Amino acid sequence: MANENLVVIGAIARKGGAGKTTVLKALMSACVASDKRCLALDTDPQRALFDWAEQLKKTGAGHPNLVVRHIERTDQIEEEIAAAYEGDTADFVFIDTPGEGGDWADLVAVQCDHIITPIMLSDTDMRIGQQTLEWFERLKARADDPSLLPKHHAVLNRVRLKTTKGDEELLLRATELFPVINTLILDRNQYVEMDRHGLLHDLARLKAADKNALVRVHAKHFFEALEEAKDVLNEILEG
Ligand SMILES: Nc1ncnc2c1ncn2[C@@H]1O[C@H](COP(=O)(O)OP(=O)(O)OP(=O)(O)O)[C@@H](O)[C@H]1O
Ligand SMILES: [Mg+2]
Repeated sequence: MANENLVVIGAIARKGGAGKTTVLKALMSACVASDKRCLALDTDPQRALFDWAEQLKKTGAGHPNLVVRHIERTDQIEEEIAAAYEGDTADFVFIDTPGEGGDWADLVAVQCDHIITPIMLSDTDMRIGQQTLEWFERLKARADDPSLLPKHHAVLNRVRLKTTKGDEELLLRATELFPVINTLILDRNQYVEMDRHGLLHDLARLKAADKNALVRVHAKHFFEALEEAKDVLNEILEG
């Protein structure tokens, strides 16, 4: 039976390094922690997401509900999504895209239910974030039926826990310019650890079970990061 509830989420940003891959890993952590099946398609020739998943498998930190495939040809994206839908092998498909958006952006966008664009609080990110927004508007203008296009969400990423006055101004500007979701993704070491060692909920559980009380203290930060990721996912799905 086909999975009518399959949700496809793509990360697209004109600016490299804004956090596409990191945000997707966090969202996948949230899904796997909620027993959802994730298929991630890495369209980035640098294979950051694919290599991460391969590394996790090698260290025993992989998960049966997390499958990451590297995509070589654009038509593979549609094939993979169709197979996941028809075979009901996934609840979520996540698509990571290369640094600069590039030619992949249009092709990926038309396959998605949701597009997320991570934006960091800097003037450059705001400016290039606007270019991403303009790209999406152009896509809408060209579409035969714009209502079939995905919903676009901006996710503010790497926000400092203690915001400065400058951050506050940029936050305000971002909410005026972009379709931002309310949950902010903080600048957290836990996301860097996730990059190195595995899914957030696995790391949280490992820390919580550690013999060393000093390590156990850190578990709560991983649980907080996981909650943050769950909030982001819920907002995307509701929006
Ligand atoms: N919220 C965060 N907290 C801490 N570090 C972060 C956060 N978001 C991203 N980073 C770090 O910033 C760097 C760039 O992030 P990432 O690789 O996710 O960006 P990207 O948009 O996928 O980049 P590229 O365009 O090159 O694919 C990584 O080293 C990542 O660990
Ligand atoms: Mg990336």
